[in-house]
Amino acid sequence: MSTPRKVFIKTYGCQMNVYDTARMSDVLRPMGFEQVEAAAEADLIILNTCHIREKAAEKVYSELGRLRMLKQDRAARGRDLAIAVAGCVAQAEGEAIIARAPVVDFIFGPQSTHALPDLISRYDAGERAMVETDFPARDKFDALGEKAAAAPAVPVSAFLAVQEGCDKFCAFCVVPYTRGAEYSRPPERIMAEARLLVDKGAREITLLGQNVNAWHGQGAGGTWNLARLLSELASIDGLGRLRFTTSHPNDMDDELIAAFAENEKLMPYLHLPVQSGSDAILKAMNRKHTAGQYLDLVARLRRARPDIALSGDFIVGFPGETEEDFAATLRIVREAGYAQAYSFKYSARPGTPAAERPDQVPQEVKSERLARLQDLLARQQQAFNAAFVGRSFDILLEKPGRHRGQLVGRSPWLQAVHVQARGHAIGDIVPVRVERAGKNSLSAHIMDTTTADV
Ligand code: SAH
Ligand code: SF4
Ligand code: F3S
Repeated sequence: MSTPRKVFIKTYGCQMNVYDTARMSDVLRPMGFEQVEAAAEADLIILNTCHIREKAAEKVYSELGRLRMLKQDRAARGRDLAIAVAGCVAQAEGEAIIARAPVVDFIFGPQSTHALPDLISRYDAGERAMVETDFPARDKFDALGEKAAAAPAVPVSAFLAVQEGCDKFCAFCVVPYTRGAEYSRPPERIMAEARLLVDKGAREITLLGQNVNAWHGQGAGGTWNLARLLSELASIDGLGRLRFTTSHPNDMDDELIAAFAENEKLMPYLHLPVQSGSDAILKAMNRKHTAGQYLDLVARLRRARPDIALSGDFIVGFPGETEEDFAATLRIVREAGYAQAYSFKYSARPGTPAAERPDQVPQEVKSERLARLQDLLARQQQAFNAAFVGRSFDILLEKPGRHRGQLVGRSPWLQAVHVQARGHAIGDIVPVRVERAGKNSLSAHIMDTTTADV
């Protein structure tokens, strides 16, 4: 690779990958790498991959096919192009990726971001087909630590990883294998990173973890849980809003529920996946709770914070799922009531127990059930948004909109809200009144704070 060098990082999958991509860029910046937005300009291309469903993993190979052409093109013009695969496919498949796609020069797993400088110098020395996939999460965070916030600018709404990995072993899921055992970062590291993020302009922080509500750590006065961490974070001046994702129903303790009532900076939105409404399927999934327990939890959350917006994940067509099981999923959706949700056809993943089951559900059945579920979820989302017309609340302005003078902000309930700027800037928290509701967003006007436009 020549200097100065350019890196293009393509991110697939969840917010944890988005966070890791930002960390890669933190590691590369002091090495003279500039991040670019197009593969064609880059000297180094990193695919930060996702292994959660077959489609996600296969995308990587089609991308690598295209990159092979790009690399050949470059070679013909005497220029080099290094290609790396990172993330969960890297962790799950390791050197098998190179066997299938020899265009790949090196591979590193989600816990090995800090190995990047070494991998690049070995690449420069002529080494190829390198694989770095065995570090525990602890090493990763020790090595990256507060460097996470050393970027020249951070988004107004920033991610902060507090927990990584999963010990839950749901029967369908690869995450415990790709991200390893649950690990909680120490509170003082998190607090330091949060302060840096706020100093650099973050107004909102979303705490990230595969099971974020399983986070715990040794802080002042003993063991802290997530509720305690959120209350310490709320004391940071300049920080306006807090969120956290993704939560597991079984780790939702009373204090965390109460935090939605007591912590003024904690926004009334919770992503709380249930996956299925059938007790038989929940059991087969190894979720370790029933539909009734989930609904009870939702009721307790709504008692603490009546306006809380609920979001979820659903899987249709898990092995053995009958029409009756699926009907129970539609029922739990109606009973819980979602502001927003993600739903997927079950995808058999190599190495997971459910993939071995003989009673796989046919594709067309899965497609048909997914369509019915998505129809219901879309109607719920639309009704949720429609109920906001005429209401006023504060939004955090996050980015420019598509039209001139337009800005896009987020409501407390995570809806995208389009407004005309009226002299306000990204990073401002401003009061708005909603004029129109769409399927996925709201349109509003900023209220005049001096003349009390109410
Ligand atoms: N830790 C989170 C979710 C991680 S994966 C949790 O426990 O809720 C994100 C979502 O992908 C899951 O909630 C699930 O709905 C979906 N998912 C995971 N594995 C899947 C598979 N094999 N097939 C289809 N969807 C899957
Ligand atoms: Fe996967 Fe279950 Fe862990 Fe979530 S809790 S990451 S679905 S194993
Ligand atoms: Fe995908 Fe890995 Fe996230 S498998 S969903 S990128 S933890």
